[in-house]
Amino acid sequence: MGHAMKRYFQIAIDGPVGSGKSTVARLVAERLGWLYVYTGAMYRAAALAAMNAGVPLSDAKAVARLVSEAQIGMSNPVGREVDRRPTTLLLNGKDVSWEILSEEVSKGSSVVAVHKEVREALVIKQQEIARTKNVVMEGRDTTFRVLPDAQLKVFLTAREPERAKRRHQQLLERGEDVDYKQVLGDLKKRDERDSNRKVDPLHVVQDAWVLDTTDLTVSAVVDKILQRVHELT
Ligand code: DC
Repeated sequence: MGHAMKRYFQIAIDGPVGSGKSTVARLVAERLGWLYVYTGAMYRAAALAAMNAGVPLSDAKAVARLVSEAQIGMSNPVGREVDRRPTTLLLNGKDVSWEILSEEVSKGSSVVAVHKEVREALVIKQQEIARTKNVVMEGRDTTFRVLPDAQLKVFLTAREPERAKRRHQQLLERGEDVDYKQVLGDLKKRDERDSNRKVDPLHVVQDAWVLDTTDLTVSAVVDKILQRVHELT
């Protein structure tokens, strides 16, 4: 090649449920003017694509093929899109940002996310996105599978009761009537499952910066990450 390709800055953010990774990733991206890539939204889009096409979610190969052929566009919400959605996602040109947040799609996404073929197809798309712009990418496999060469890898965590408290608060805000004890129990089970699954289990990579957010406000966490980015750029 005649000249070196510009390498964009990649921040990969991982962490368990309730660590605040989505909120923090979105805000960091907003402050930097970079793209926020919510990888969970892409698993949700995969499930929706399968549901729309009448493809069984259990059919790994067929879902993976749909994903490979689909156009998945992600952008930070602007103008009319600023309506509390976490991200704007276009599936084959159609805005499905809200549709992918439904309970049905949510359940479907966890089904398709176990298929190796589907994960591979989505990882390729995620890596393509990161090749063309600066990104703050959030998801449980971003620090080792999707962006193993990210300039900054952050593993956000917090003590269990604090994470359960945050998750509980989030569910209450969504109008779901659940009690704290149940949320704490579910969270422990999910941690256990996420950490022990065969494919890409939740774990801290050796070069990740582990940031305990138990006693930090969201904006303090965001500021710490921004400071680190400025030191690195
Ligand atoms: O974070 P979320 O609930 O929106 O994610 C939707 C589903 O996709 C969930 O079952 C976890 C899965 N997922 C994954 O396996 N890998 C990612 N990088 C992101 C999400």
